[in-house]
Amino acid sequence: MKLIYERSQAGRRGLAVPRPDLPVPPVPDELARREPPRLPEVAEPEVLRHFTELSTRNYGIDTGFYPLGSCTMKYNPRVNERVVALPGFRDLHPLVNEDAAQGALELEWRLQELLRELTGLDAVSLQPAAGSQGELTGLLLMRAYFADRGEDEQRRRIVIPDTAHGTNPASVTMAGYELTKVATDARGNVDLDDLRANVDEHTAGLMLTNPSTLGLFDENIEAIRDVFHDAGALMYYDGANLNAVCGISRPGDMGFDIVHINLHKTFSQPHGGGGPGGGPIAVGARLEPFLPVPALIRKDDGSFGLDFDRPKTIGKVRGFTGPFGVFVRSYAYIRRYGPQLREMSEAAVLNANYLLARLKDAYELPFDRLCMHEFVLSARNLKRDSGVSALDVAKRLMDYGIHPPTIYFPLIVPEALMIEPTETEPKERLDDFCDAMLLIATEAATAPEVLHEAPHTRPVTRLDEVKAAKRVVVRYGFEAHPNLAEAGQEA
Ligand SMILES: Cc1ncc(COP(=O)(O)O)c(C=O)c1O
Repeated sequence: MKLIYERSQAGRRGLAVPRPDLPVPPVPDELARREPPRLPEVAEPEVLRHFTELSTRNYGIDTGFYPLGSCTMKYNPRVNERVVALPGFRDLHPLVNEDAAQGALELEWRLQELLRELTGLDAVSLQPAAGSQGELTGLLLMRAYFADRGEDEQRRRIVIPDTAHGTNPASVTMAGYELTKVATDARGNVDLDDLRANVDEHTAGLMLTNPSTLGLFDENIEAIRDVFHDAGALMYYDGANLNAVCGISRPGDMGFDIVHINLHKTFSQPHGGGGPGGGPIAVGARLEPFLPVPALIRKDDGSFGLDFDRPKTIGKVRGFTGPFGVFVRSYAYIRRYGPQLREMSEAAVLNANYLLARLKDAYELPFDRLCMHEFVLSARNLKRDSGVSALDVAKRLMDYGIHPPTIYFPLIVPEALMIEPTETEPKERLDDFCDAMLLIATEAATAPEVLHEAPHTRPVTRLDEVKAAKRVVVRYGFEAHPNLAEAGQEA
């Protein structure tokens, strides 16, 4: 497909801009461009055709099934978009004074209350803009809490299971802590012996994802809690996988002190490619004084406002009160279910177990248990028998019009395929996916070379994965710049 610059013909115009009525102020010499910008010269219908064609090459949840394990690509109801586009929300300036923003503040306060209820904890900050920022904020809260008790220098370590999402260890390091890794046992739970051997008076806390990235609910939560409570440490719950347990179990009831919620995963948000997201944190009462400012409060007269008067706060972690458009959509999603929110999680878990039951004979299942909202298969049997890898399976799925699942994660499962269907997929779609996966398992035995070269039907066929990751050409005209090309610079 041609670039828009390659469609350019000198003198073609898409639209005529009217001459301004007012005098145009002169641009100071030092700010003026020396040459006019090189813009494509294309007529309007050609522009439209170009971008429409481009959009058909994209694949999203609105195009088809998108079982990207750990990333929760669920359908975003259109009513959310209507609500967020209401002029009162859409046109609100972040610096407007409190009196003129009561509706928006009330929505945020109500969302806080819902998250408090869902997590079983005492206070919420909506500020963090992503799960990973929620993690960092939570760890900074731990530091502030122990510093307040004079224990920050003594407690330097955070314990993380080896199944953790990569952001967990990264956040630990950013917060200035040291990492202690613990193993997973044969049933997919945290290995309790390894845990006990690694927790002591130097431990600040645990970061646990539950359900884990294996899609399993840890069967020993209470024993884990006792280990940390006995050591005087705190417990952080990575709630990125809350989609499996909403209205069913609560981190606060299990003894956790801090949890982050990925609004963009659990409560629908058109995300991907880096945003937008929301990673609010909920905490127990002893950590509330350290939460970011401003705190969003309901005052005694029933109005809503921002409270900056929190002497022990860790400070601000994001501009204003957080990503407002994300809050509106997530609030709308939760309210749509109302008191039946647990049905969301039940359907997500049922859908995942349906796929698991249909696929577990054709692929290896490293932990043979009922799963939660996602599960991990291994293509190790295909690799051993016919040299077909998880990557080949993922690429071949694209030929059948399905987005590949997450692959090679979690790291402890070789040839991992991590599958998450979400609650919004009907049975026919689930069956299409299973049929494709079973067909691929057959093809692996009969025509492995077809899989090695897949995809065959997409606009872009098999890429050199290493080159694509290491030499991303993100700039038109890269090849035309000999200096860059010769130096082989990575973008
Ligand atoms: C288990 C887990 N923790 C943390 C994160 C980080 O969330 P975010 O991508 O919003 O930073 C993710 C993201 O997918 C996740 O799956």
